[in-house]
Order: sequence, then C-alpha cells, then structure tokens
Amino acid sequence: MAANSTAANNMAPLPVVLIGCGRVAEKHLKAISKLKGLALKAVVDVNPDSAKRLLSSVKGFSDVKIFNDYKEAIDEIKPAIVSVTVPSGLHYQIAKYAMEHGSNLLLEKPMTMSVSEAREIYELSQKTGLKVAMGHIYRYLPIVGLVREDIAEGKYGKVTHGTIYVRWGHGEDYYSSAAWRGTWKSDGGALMNQTIHAIDLLVWLMGSEPEQAQAMIAKRIRNIEAEDLGMAVLKLENGALAQIEGTTATIPSKHTAEFSVFCENGQLSMGLDSGKPHLNILSVKPDGKTKKLNGYYIRKQFKKGGLFSYKCALNPHLGIYKDLFDSIVENKAPIADAYAGFSSVDTLLGIYKSAKEGRPVDLPLKDNFTSTDMTGFFN
Ligand SMILES: NC(=O)c1ccc[n+]([C@@H]2O[C@H](COP(=O)([O-])OP(=O)(O)OC[C@H]3O[C@@H](n4cnc5c(N)ncnc54)[C@H](O)[C@@H]3O)[C@@H](O)[C@H]2O)c1
Repeated sequence: MAANSTAANNMAPLPVVLIGCGRVAEKHLKAISKLKGLALKAVVDVNPDSAKRLLSSVKGFSDVKIFNDYKEAIDEIKPAIVSVTVPSGLHYQIAKYAMEHGSNLLLEKPMTMSVSEAREIYELSQKTGLKVAMGHIYRYLPIVGLVREDIAEGKYGKVTHGTIYVRWGHGEDYYSSAAWRGTWKSDGGALMNQTIHAIDLLVWLMGSEPEQAQAMIAKRIRNIEAEDLGMAVLKLENGALAQIEGTTATIPSKHTAEFSVFCENGQLSMGLDSGKPHLNILSVKPDGKTKKLNGYYIRKQFKKGGLFSYKCALNPHLGIYKDLFDSIVENKAPIADAYAGFSSVDTLLGIYKSAKEGRPVDLPLKDNFTSTDMTGFFN
C-alpha cells in the first residue's frame, strides 16, 4: 500500500510529538505542514519560549499543545511518531522512552553518543518492529538513491575509493548559542555533528561496511572542547578506501560538502556549494571515451519521484517524514533506518578512538566507546 494510495489517504493522520524546539525543529515543522498524513499534536521544550517561538514561525500550528516534560507528552498523546530534536547527548534516553511506549521515531543524528546505546536503540527497533528514520538528510537528496542502485548493480564496475569533504564553517556565535555545542558529552565536534551523515552517505553509496578506521583530529581555531577539524581513512569490507575531511574551521558563509565515488568504469561527484547543488556523473564507454550522465539521472529521478523529490533538495526532512510515513503504513524499513544510525555512530566513535590511540582500529568496535572517552584529548 503506497502512502498516496486510497487506503493511506483515508487514514486518520498519524499523531506526531516533536521534542526539542531549537534550530533544526523548524525544518521538521515545515516538512510536517506539507504532509497530509501527519498531524503535529504537541511540541516539548524545557524552555517554553522556544516552543512558542517555534510554533509561531510556521503557519498552521496555533492549536498545538506545549509541554515541558517529554514523558508527560508521550504518555498523554501516545503519538505514532516522536521526533527527537534535542541536543545529541539526550537522544538515547528520549528515543528509548518513546519506543518503550510504542512510538516510531524520527531521530536526529547522531543516533546516540555511545556505541552500546546505539546498538540498544537498533535492537529495540528490531524487537518491537517500530520504525526509526534517522535525520541523515543526504540520503534523501534527489539522484543519490538512483546512483547507489546503479553502483550496487555493477553499472560502474568495481568501486575503488570514495572521498568526502564537509567544510561547514561555524563561528564562535554558533558555538556560544547553546552550552552543549562542541562538548564531548552532548555534541562532539565537526565530525560527530557536521560530518556523520555525510560519512553515512559515502559508505552507503560505496555499498560496503567499514572494517577499519584510521584518523587524526585537531582543534585549530574554534574555542570548543572537541575537534573543529578531523581527517580519517576507512577501509571497507570490499577493499575500497574512503577518505574523509570534516571541519567547522572554514568560512561560515561558504558551506560546502562534496561526495565522490570512483569506480572501474565511472566516477560520480555531487555536492552543495553555498546552497547550490552540483553534479558530475561520468561513465566510461568500451572505447575508453567518457559519457556524462547528469541529464539521464535528472530525468530518471523526475520520472520516479516527480517534483516532490526535487522539493526534498530544499528541505530533505520532507523526504524523511514521507519515507517514515510510508515505512509505517507499508511496514518496510526507512531509507536511513536504525541500522544506519547505529553503524554511523560505530564508525564515528571508531574514528575518535583511532585518533585517541594513534593507531588503526577495527570496526565494528568490539567494546563500548563513548564520546566522553575523548574528554581531555586536547588538554
Ligand atoms: N539532520 C540535520 O540536518 C540536523 C541539523 C541541525 C541539527 N541536527 C541535530 O538536531 C539536534 C538539535 O540541534 P539544534 O541545532 O536544533 O539544537 P538547539 O540547541 O538549537 O535546540 C535544542 C532544543 O532542545 C531543547 N531541550 C534541551 N533539553 C531538552 C529536554 N530535556 N526536553 C525537551 N527539550 C529540550 C532546548 O531548549 C532547545 O530548544 C542535534 O542532535 C543536532 O545534531 C540535525
């Protein structure tokens, strides 16, 4: 049953409770406001002014209830979906409570700040059948899913390597806007906050799981506890290598993120440069000449997802909510599911562990590792 089928159209909208009314929450509200299958019933924040400000920033939510305790909101509303948009160090406790009370999740990245907690959320989703859609926005951009299918089907031959850079400059004003930002306990640094979903996309595109990480991190110019620059190399199970650069120590008005995957018979690069998308997909023909496939993928995406898929480029959370709704109605896994949440936390904490111990580490991590194990690293 597709979400736009008659049965889905006749369903009562699924009640949603959003917990955490800060910066990213507005993107969630804008997405919910565009989907008929969802009804926002309550928002929660320890600061009631943030909740009021959020509700007045998006049209159509004037009658939404405000709570300051997430347990009360979940107990009273019994939502089908809980959206978790609080500081990262609080994701685990809220996600666990929501699932134990029968709610599906839209859980912001990173899933948790420790490997054991991420595994527990993943296992809880397996045990209960509840859906977890991660805030891994890059998987929801147009064309990436199509490219992934073609790489997986061997259209480009063997994957040799991939690279990402995420140069997402943030100044002191960003870091001083909330006490949790840039702390090991609640946020991590440029890799854990700004790069984790990009690492998730690169690994997903390359179609294999990470088996080893080697990394270095640095604190160059931002006055934070964690790193403002990190570089890492991952070895994947299929032998391919992935190179990662993530930083907030670049110019704040020039956010760029670029993904490239190199294969035997093609290479694919896509990215965002100050909000402008760019794409360069090349395949190698049998005569050795290259063919640009940008137009092919743009048309194919339009045929598959219509204008909606391109609207997701402007607000990928629209794609995440639609996917979560479809996943609940059709009982299937979301595109960025609980396993993606767990695996990316495991990889990221493996990167931190490697930086801390100055040696490569095997993935998945055998023992628990948590972001607070990095406390004092730059002292
Ligand atoms: N997927 C993305 O593109 C994306 C983008 C930005 C942020 N994020 C993630 O979203 C999360 C929130 O980030 P943000 O920048 O919006 O943070 P923020 O500080 O702007 O907002 C967090 C809000 O949570 C509230 N809060 C704190 N403790 C609470 C509690 N116990 N109960 C209810 N509310 C509580 C705060 O008062 C604040 O209003 C982080 O995990 C971040 O990594 C994801």
